[in-house]
Amino acid sequence: MKPRKTHMILPAIAGLALLSACSQNADTGPVSDTSDVELANGLTVKEQIETRQAQLKKIGKAFKTISDQLRASSPDLAQIQAAAAAVPTEAANMIDWFPEGTGPDSGVETEALPIIWEDKDDFDSKVVAMQDAAAKLETAAQGGDVEAVAAAFKTTGGTCKACHDKYRLDD
Ligand code: HEC
Repeated sequence: MKPRKTHMILPAIAGLALLSACSQNADTGPVSDTSDVELANGLTVKEQIETRQAQLKKIGKAFKTISDQLRASSPDLAQIQAAAAAVPTEAANMIDWFPEGTGPDSGVETEALPIIWEDKDDFDSKVVAMQDAAAKLETAAQGGDVEAVAAAFKTTGGTCKACHDKYRLDD
């Protein structure tokens, strides 16, 4: 009985060894760096991640401008309007910024959590919710009523947070 058992276990062990040889390197750890892999849209994984981070930075900056102005004793409406117009513009293609393969497993530094691709429909619905809220924020800003801008800003901020809480790494 004993020799038979050994014979059956060996291939499994060999398979395991092969697996770990593929994904690990004794000196540098995981070697599954896919940052230079080209995506369907022609960008590399690294370029896609850096592009979306740059866009999100612009959105964050516009958002901060609105926040600062709403806190000011006499808010500058022109600044609010310009920033409110920038958010939906910069976020227009956001639905395309997170193709499969652009998570942290790529080896590129990103705060995008892997669960994005486990529930992509929910993630995408949160993108759309933000875009809808940002469009209303822009309309409110054009209307010039600071109270209405403040309300729309709060709603939009809630849509940013709803996504970040679930899909972005805490910093
Ligand atoms: C549907 C999800 C989602 C929504 C909605 C969303 N974000 Fe994000 N945001 C992310 C993810 C994921 C990251 C991390 C991206 C990365 O590191 O690759 C991020 C990163 C950021 C960053 C950091 C960018 C950097 O790399 O420096 C800022 C700033 C930001 N978001 C602002 C906003 C603002 C402001 C809103 C709302 C107007 C918003 N986000 C809405 C998912 C979202």
